[in-house]
Amino acid sequence: MADKTYDAIVIGGGPGGYVCAIRLGQLKQKVLCVEKDEVGGVCLNWGCVPSKAIIATSHTFEKVKGGASYGLLTDNPRIDANKLQDWKEGIVKKLTGGIRTLFRGNGVDLIYGEARVTGPKAVTVKTREGATEVIAATKGIVVATGSSTIEIPSFKFDGDKVIGAKEAVSLRTIPPRLLVIGGGIIGMELGGAYQRLGSDLTVVEALPNLLTGIDADVAAVVEKTYLKRGAKILKGAKALGYEQQKDGSLAVRLDVGGKTDTVVTDVVLVAVGMRPNGAGLGLEELGIKVEKGFIPTDNLGRTNVPGIYALGDCSSVPMLAHKASKEGEVVAEVIAGHKAAKDWVAVPAAIFTDPEIATVGLGEQQAKEKGLEVRVGKFPFSALGRAMAVAETEGFIKVVADKTTHEVLGVHIVGPEATDLISEGALALEMHAFLEDLGLTMHPHPTLGEGMMEASLHALGQAVHILNR
Ligand code: NAI
Repeated sequence: MADKTYDAIVIGGGPGGYVCAIRLGQLKQKVLCVEKDEVGGVCLNWGCVPSKAIIATSHTFEKVKGGASYGLLTDNPRIDANKLQDWKEGIVKKLTGGIRTLFRGNGVDLIYGEARVTGPKAVTVKTREGATEVIAATKGIVVATGSSTIEIPSFKFDGDKVIGAKEAVSLRTIPPRLLVIGGGIIGMELGGAYQRLGSDLTVVEALPNLLTGIDADVAAVVEKTYLKRGAKILKGAKALGYEQQKDGSLAVRLDVGGKTDTVVTDVVLVAVGMRPNGAGLGLEELGIKVEKGFIPTDNLGRTNVPGIYALGDCSSVPMLAHKASKEGEVVAEVIAGHKAAKDWVAVPAAIFTDPEIATVGLGEQQAKEKGLEVRVGKFPFSALGRAMAVAETEGFIKVVADKTTHEVLGVHIVGPEATDLISEGALALEMHAFLEDLGLTMHPHPTLGEGMMEASLHALGQAVHILNR
């Protein structure tokens, strides 16, 4: 016998689960969300949002330090890491409180505890208070349990000197030296932030390139900036282990292209990826095949067991908050009996390196590998008045389109505000827009968005502020 009955139970209150629960509430479903840590999940509590607060401060700090060239004179600017943390924690509190308010306003019940799926319509929760409750879901159980940081055996997290991203956004001292294992998204975002805040940065990346999956010319702009600031970037390199020195520092042993090397550092940040949290929830016992931690679903978010749904990081890549949220909306609507499906054209990516990177759709190389004939337009921020005025002229906007039809296939930006500018590219793909649509749309002057218009015109041989090929 169930202790309670709901239309739907959502397991996990991250950006996938909480959005799904709110949408279910909006659709007049009786809904419960079960969360074991805190609503908002990794993204809001220890990932996206806190890291962006730190990254934004590091960016402002960098600009202030370089201000003399544009007449901004400051006397010995410095960072108060404690104050930065307090401010960041304030933001997180405001946002998690906001989710709880939205839950109340939309009639979503919340239980803090650990859930297991114990039947096709039943969830058992061990509450934070120590009670065990069996709760029934008549219409759907949604698994939105996210992903966890991958650890390397020879670099076990100690919460102090060997840390993951969660601890890296909570540092109350800026490490004088920081070694990052993994030159992917987290490594380059947080490594870059601490470099700007004063750390001497080393990045150790196993593959031949940083930021794998990003167009090489885009990633190269970021690499150049980090190198210019003095970073040591070791590619094709593996961190083998470390020894703690008498002064507390760590001597990290490396294999760099077959040669051994040692780098001494104060803190090691391990950022080698995330693992999906699909296993161990009771799903396998019900006949759901969990594949390497992922819970496979169809384009309605349904698993192979009727009534059980999965979404977000625990279900598929890319592991991005905005993709999980959109999936949450779809699954809620499917459970409520509406016609909905995951039918977006592309998932945009926003990477908060310096300069920022943002992409949507096919890269130039990817399109070619698919056998597509493309035309590419590229507009450098250095040719844009607004970019000069904000003293951020690194990078470019690149538009990839079908050579014949001119349909936009991808947009790739590296440069100032790239992460905000990309939404126009996402809309272009979603609307199956042509280069002409972007190029003929009047973009306000002086803005960074003009670069999108100019890059599209460049692909047509009609850019005004650079020479056309
Ligand atoms: P990642 O997959 O982006 O990068 C990990 C990197 O570590 C790879 O380049 C890999 O080759 C390297 N690596 C793996 N093992 C290694 C070893 N032993 N030694 C040296 N290098 C090694 O993973 P990351 O950065 O941890 O991020 C995880 C995920 O979180 C991302 O894939 C993304 O989905 C999400 N994320 C997204 C953000 C955003 O959209 N702005 C921000 C942060 C995370």
